[in-house]
Amino acid sequence: MSFLSGGDADLGATPSEVPVARHLLPDSAAVTAAGRLEVGGLDVVGLADEFGTPVFVYDETTLRARCRELVGAFGPGSAYATKAFLCRAMAEVALEEGLRLDVSTDGELGVALSAGAEPDQIVFHGNNKSDSELAAVVGLRVGRIVVDSFDEIARLTRLVDDRRRGAAQRVLVRVNPGIEAHTHEFIATGQEDSKFGFSVASGAAHAAVEALQGLAGVEVVGVHAHIGSQIMRLESFARVAEVLAPIVVARGLAELCVGGGLGVAYLSDESAPTITEWAAAVLAACGRADLPSNVRVSAEPGRAVVASAAMTCYRVGTIKELPGIRNFVAVDGGMSDNPRPVLYGSGYEAFLPRAVTADRPYAARIVGKHCESGDVVVAEARVPRDIAVGDVLVTPVTGAYGFSMASNYNRVGRPPVVFVDGGRARLVVRRETVEDLLRLEP
Ligand code: LLP
Repeated sequence: MSFLSGGDADLGATPSEVPVARHLLPDSAAVTAAGRLEVGGLDVVGLADEFGTPVFVYDETTLRARCRELVGAFGPGSAYATKAFLCRAMAEVALEEGLRLDVSTDGELGVALSAGAEPDQIVFHGNNKSDSELAAVVGLRVGRIVVDSFDEIARLTRLVDDRRRGAAQRVLVRVNPGIEAHTHEFIATGQEDSKFGFSVASGAAHAAVEALQGLAGVEVVGVHAHIGSQIMRLESFARVAEVLAPIVVARGLAELCVGGGLGVAYLSDESAPTITEWAAAVLAACGRADLPSNVRVSAEPGRAVVASAAMTCYRVGTIKELPGIRNFVAVDGGMSDNPRPVLYGSGYEAFLPRAVTADRPYAARIVGKHCESGDVVVAEARVPRDIAVGDVLVTPVTGAYGFSMASNYNRVGRPPVVFVDGGRARLVVRRETVEDLLRLEP
């Protein structure tokens, strides 16, 4: 199969043996005549040599394209969910492209503000916001606080009581629509049995909106739901719109937010709806539910914006062949830079950027350098037969929940983040060192 021909499997070869599918790579990915991968106009092996491994390489073209697609598809008012990947450079890209920033801790808030976000551009989330977080965001008058519980309403009441003068604090009410999303149970949030939000079925959602509408100093802008993550079925989001629309109509609200959760393709034989298709399905459902056209419909995806923009480059350190059992290819990272395989059993592709169009007949488990057998990067990978110690190995689609969930297990420093664009690479987060770790110890 030609590398550039798309994601469909070649005839005569099993899908896993053919080269990695084009749609898993960043928008600016290109292949040289020698079969080497370039991203942002730069040789990927060269980037690994320059910045060391492991390293997260983000294609700025892809990041900006997805942000623009989101603004274009839903209109202004949508947010980027920073938990998927956050550093100052990422926040700047999202803000420049016209998005708000969804943050859910004082840490994410601090990064967003330091990137130049105006308070109005901040959407503050959390099922258990601390007193100090709540006081800080009310003090700032952030654009939206997404209220999650009756305890939070009580605390908000005390806070806005003190600050009755001036502009009202705008809030969204997080509603639990009682929808089972088809995804991993750890990342499903819209079912009744959930720690998040006010249940519609029990009447709590209506009661919460009513309580907040009666509160001086608070303006209830709308309702919000987030039913989970890595969701591939657009019908699930249409259902959210159907459940939320009657509340918006009954309470005379101005905004309906369907949250994030749009899935992405991780494997060559997967495909996911685009952000544009997602918005079309949501807006069509809103129309069927007779949502007035002046109600703003918004979203706050994370993964769909950043996942395919990045790839992780590792260096192969050892290859261990156990005849009749398994081949192990060990790389210089692992569960500390990508815990998703261990946490959710997530699958990834692996390939060699020096030979991105090569077939991948060699079956191997890609493992990390951590001290446990569960430290798996790709459980069932296929790589070119001539893979060798010293090769740079890439896992694509690692832009979401990789760097953001990275740890210092075994006291490894977290990898650097490099943005590439138009033949230029800039280090936006440097590699963490032992000195960085020791600095925390008095
Ligand atoms: N909004 C809210 C309120 C959320 O809780 C989340 C994600 C998002 C938006 C963004 O969801 P996305 O569009 O990225 O699916 N660590 C897991 C994902 C956890 C998602 C948590 N909440 C993973 O690696 O798959």
